[in-house]
Amino acid sequence: MVMGKLTAAITAVGAFVPNFVLTNKLLEAMVETNDEWITSRTGIKERRILKPEEGQGTSYMAIKAAKDLLKKGKIDPKDIDLVIVATVTPDTLVASTAAYVATEIGASNAFGYDLLAACSSFLFGMSTAASYIESGRYRKVLLIGADKMSSIVDYTDRTTCIIFGDGAGAVLFEPNKEGLGFQNEYLRSDGVGRNFLNMDAGGSLLPASMETVKNRKHYIYQDGKSVFKFAVSNMADAAAYIMEHNQLNHEDVAWLVPHQANKRIIDATANRMGLDHSKVMMNIQYYGNTTSATLPLLLADYEKQLKKGDNIVFAAFGGGFTWGAIYLKWAYSK
Ligand code: UT7
Repeated sequence: MVMGKLTAAITAVGAFVPNFVLTNKLLEAMVETNDEWITSRTGIKERRILKPEEGQGTSYMAIKAAKDLLKKGKIDPKDIDLVIVATVTPDTLVASTAAYVATEIGASNAFGYDLLAACSSFLFGMSTAASYIESGRYRKVLLIGADKMSSIVDYTDRTTCIIFGDGAGAVLFEPNKEGLGFQNEYLRSDGVGRNFLNMDAGGSLLPASMETVKNRKHYIYQDGKSVFKFAVSNMADAAAYIMEHNQLNHEDVAWLVPHQANKRIIDATANRMGLDHSKVMMNIQYYGNTTSATLPLLLADYEKQLKKGDNIVFAAFGGGFTWGAIYLKWAYSK
């Protein structure tokens, strides 16, 4: 990295998870499953749910996470240029959730839009946010990963309802002149995955009808075994590739920040990188898979342990298929 060149650093972090805790025990009363199966197959013990009776959508959590960031980072929302909300569960399909979030947090000089790439939404959003900063076009880009997965999960389907949870996390990207922040990326997609992890109805291909509702087509569906196979190899490959291409060995890497879909996928990625488990961020046991929120929720939980200059590898895999890895140098110590 040439010194003096503008890089895009994360300078503040915020998070929000709803209060209600859906434990494995509670799920046992809802579908045919048990704590032992869920724990050994996924590593998940509980997840947070934004209860339907609260009448709130994804923006509610995104706003809370953004406000947490603004408060902790002492940021004036009027200084923010752009708000990106990475999500697969926008409040509504046409009106941009990010536009609403920007207005609600007082980012009156910003524009906002949503970014959708399934569980890789936040990872791909990091690339987008960093590019705006590196180009010199904008100076403060707020990237929020937020999903209310409970709004599209079928709580009679034991193969999906045990995995997902709700939550939101936010990061601020700003210019850096010390060479810290975003370094490199390896991002991929393959449409072969379209039918393995999807929500069939509600889009332009299959609009809502009495039939689609009756046939439960507005819920997320996944062929877990196939997704697992693709996820294990591609996430590990992407992380290994980014290490090789940046001449990083396992000692150089301070942290792996992996998408939280299944502890077995995380372990496989860490093993492939030769990383000790103490360097792997993990909170899947508390939150399950929050889709776009997993990576920023990890940063919020581990922020105090991060040190200026730490080499961090982010990795994710999701529907589409979409996947990849990003190498970033952390820019501050708490
Ligand atoms: O974030 C986006 C990307 N998503 C992912 O990365 C998810 C990837 N997939 C997975 O994490 C795993 O495939 C699952 C956790 C979804 C499932 O684990 P698995 O080890 O692949 O299980 P399986 O689907 O092969 O099912 C094994 C057995 C089956 O029974 P039989 O056919 O062997 O009798 C299932 O019916 O486990 C049964 N089963 C369950 N049993 C208890 C499936 N779900 C459950 C359950 N509780 N919740």
